[in-house]
Amino acid sequence: MTAQEFDFDEQIDRAEVPALKPHRIVLGADGSHLFPAGVADMDFKAPPPVLDAMRKRLEHGVFGYETVPDGLMPALTGWMKTRHGWHVDQEHILRAPNVLNSLAIAASLFTSQGDGIIVQPPVFFDFYDVIAENHRRLVSNPLIEKDGRYVMDYDGLQQLAADPHTTMLYLCNPHNPVGRVWKRSELQRLAGICRANNVLVVSDEIHGDITFPGHPYTPFASLGDKDALNSITCLSPAKSFNIASCCSAFTIIVDEARRKAFQAENSRLTVNKNNAFASVAIEAAYRHGGDWLDAALDYIAGNLAVVRDELAALPQVTLIEPEGTFLVWLDFRALELTPADLTAFLRSRAGWAVTSGAVFGEQGTGFARLNIACTRARLTAALEQLKRAVVSLH
Ligand SMILES: Cc1ncc(COP(=O)(O)O)c(C=O)c1O
Repeated sequence: MTAQEFDFDEQIDRAEVPALKPHRIVLGADGSHLFPAGVADMDFKAPPPVLDAMRKRLEHGVFGYETVPDGLMPALTGWMKTRHGWHVDQEHILRAPNVLNSLAIAASLFTSQGDGIIVQPPVFFDFYDVIAENHRRLVSNPLIEKDGRYVMDYDGLQQLAADPHTTMLYLCNPHNPVGRVWKRSELQRLAGICRANNVLVVSDEIHGDITFPGHPYTPFASLGDKDALNSITCLSPAKSFNIASCCSAFTIIVDEARRKAFQAENSRLTVNKNNAFASVAIEAAYRHGGDWLDAALDYIAGNLAVVRDELAALPQVTLIEPEGTFLVWLDFRALELTPADLTAFLRSRAGWAVTSGAVFGEQGTGFARLNIACTRARLTAALEQLKRAVVSLH
């Protein structure tokens, strides 16, 4: 199948299933007419080889207890090697139900109650909940925004990491919501500070496959042996192939003692079952989903170009140019609205249901996160609505 044969323009009614993005839980009871662009998944069907593999599995008809298929881990390691040049030892991989589960288990096992966990806001809001719900202390090292581009604050990191009660860092690589795909040199600097201060890096790489040309993803554990040992990598096919509801992910732990402890905790929590549909979907995705992903990335890049062009004519709204992810960070600060007023304005005047920047940390005040993994027609119409709404303000 060639890239042209995937139909990303197909408008699929996601409300036919209990999809979260258009659900009243997210949009509110009165929000069914809004452009649903908050929840971080795609509006596209999963890759055809994934659908075929699931159909075949369905037709088998028996869904009794299963173990992990022999081909699953080699499919993942093969993908990482060919796509990202990263050698992952199969022995280091543990199955996980989802990435947040791995972040939570890592915090509970490898930090003590009250210990600090560093995050770099504005950052994925669920990091905050995981830290709070595990009774750890949030240690905030905000990114620095310079001319519309975000960089890490290494001096701040050095100071915070020096506290012996700050023992872990949640890295978002690539970074949701600001769209940075961290460069090797940036990761190396962060890694050096963390190693020198005994801060374990838990790297959430769920967006790793979704990068734009010129911005290759660098797996944190590929920096070198010492950093591989001082890290836990959380991987998932959920974003790459739009299969989040299959609920399956991977935790990669090179350090043997930590891996054994994690495995024991998975066992204690009985997080060690195989979901038949998830396994066949993931294996098919990693073995045969590359062309589809390339085509999806092309389409998303095309959508980004539309956002760029449309916003060029709207000086009140600034696009923070993403290097990866299908999430776009928009700067509405020129409108001088509070987060609540910005959300209300976007809903009522532009018909947009996007994620308020403020939920990513106070640094996100005045921003909103737009999901562009939707049909181009839907996105173009939404941008027209936004333009009319902003113009009507003056
Ligand atoms: C950075 C990041 N990590 C984790 C998740 C959630 O992953 P999971 O559903 O596997 O817990 C998301 C979803 O938006 C995300 O953006």
